[in-house]
Amino acid sequence: MKFGSLCVHELKKKRTTTKPHQLPIYATSSFEFENIDEGIDIFTGKKSGHVYGRYGNPTIEFVAEKIAQLESFGLPQDASCVLVSSGMAAISTLFMSILEKGDKVLTQGNLYGGTTELLLKVFEPLGIETIFTNLKDLDKVEDLLKNDPSIKLLYFETPANPTMACVDLEALADLATQYGRKSAVDNTFCTPYLQQPFKFGVDYIIHSTTKYLNGHGNSIAGAILSLDQDFMKDKVWQRMKLAGTNCNPFDAWLINNGLKTLELRMNRHCENAMAVATFLEQHDKVSKVNYNGLTSHADHELAKKQMKDFGGMMSFELKDGMQAGLDFMNKIKFCVLAPTLGDVDTLILHPASSSHLNVAKEVRERNGITDGLVRLSIGIENVEDIIEDLEQALTYI
Ligand SMILES: Cc1ncc(COP(=O)(O)O)c(C=O)c1O
Repeated sequence: MKFGSLCVHELKKKRTTTKPHQLPIYATSSFEFENIDEGIDIFTGKKSGHVYGRYGNPTIEFVAEKIAQLESFGLPQDASCVLVSSGMAAISTLFMSILEKGDKVLTQGNLYGGTTELLLKVFEPLGIETIFTNLKDLDKVEDLLKNDPSIKLLYFETPANPTMACVDLEALADLATQYGRKSAVDNTFCTPYLQQPFKFGVDYIIHSTTKYLNGHGNSIAGAILSLDQDFMKDKVWQRMKLAGTNCNPFDAWLINNGLKTLELRMNRHCENAMAVATFLEQHDKVSKVNYNGLTSHADHELAKKQMKDFGGMMSFELKDGMQAGLDFMNKIKFCVLAPTLGDVDTLILHPASSSHLNVAKEVRERNGITDGLVRLSIGIENVEDIIEDLEQALTYI
């Protein structure tokens, strides 16, 4: 081999070493075969192995398996998980795996905005309609399932942004099963540490791992899970591979790092959030606090039934509306004004002047987003610093 060729080629030697203590990143777009027979065996499934990075990669699969074990923790059956490129990729890949032209999705009005847009702007023109209804009204849900056989999927979020409204996982999953339909939940806000929807009979779970599962705000990815291994392989894995919604090994590795401290982080998020909610609830410039841990929250009992603790997400309303919201946000010093959630640091958002600036006032108010509403994703810092910051900013309004 000449000098230039030596530079180009990987060394022809087996890459064996003692077992790495931490998960290696397989930064390779494809995998080599020892000979043509091995290639044929792997391609035909006679031998397990990897072929091409979009189909599978050891780093990504290791992390998917970890999330699967967490979501089916304590259950008699193992879950299977496919990691994808974002939370939105998880939702769209799941929908592509279940729905066909003429099918309908039954869901709630207060979904994550991206999901509502996906349903209306991408799936509706493809002939897949969405029915938005109040999923707390179980008689209405049953009526719709009974009378409309084209509803194939019941899709929900609990707790939902920004009012932390919950829906009953068990009741909805039971109704879906009773009428031969499937149910799916976005479990991003809770993570499997706080809520395990498979225990309540839900068929599919999606996550934006971008949030709590990674927890450090440094990767974008998503996960799709089911206890039905054949569905995961024949439908979800195939759609992921063909639509190219696959995760990448570096983001998967970052999720793996985050997962190591999931229990510790979630405990601290919950503890801090309870203290902040209690502080805000007694403040005279705050008219309402939406936190599932407060007995004043309409869904406190339901959250207690299906969640281990109440999470790090909350919102509150300033008595004096839009101007109060703007003044308050301008005085924040410690919390971070960033439009994401679930990170280790406390994130604050005034939806009416940011994420919902272009949404008509009546539309956003129908979903609980009033002029004075502020959303908090409580971090794991020392809670005194979070409360001190909110307290000083409240003095300016
Ligand atoms: C509840 C929920 N689901 C899904 C998503 C989409 O996730 P991603 O941004 O990773 O695509 C988000 C994003 O904010 C979210 O809050």
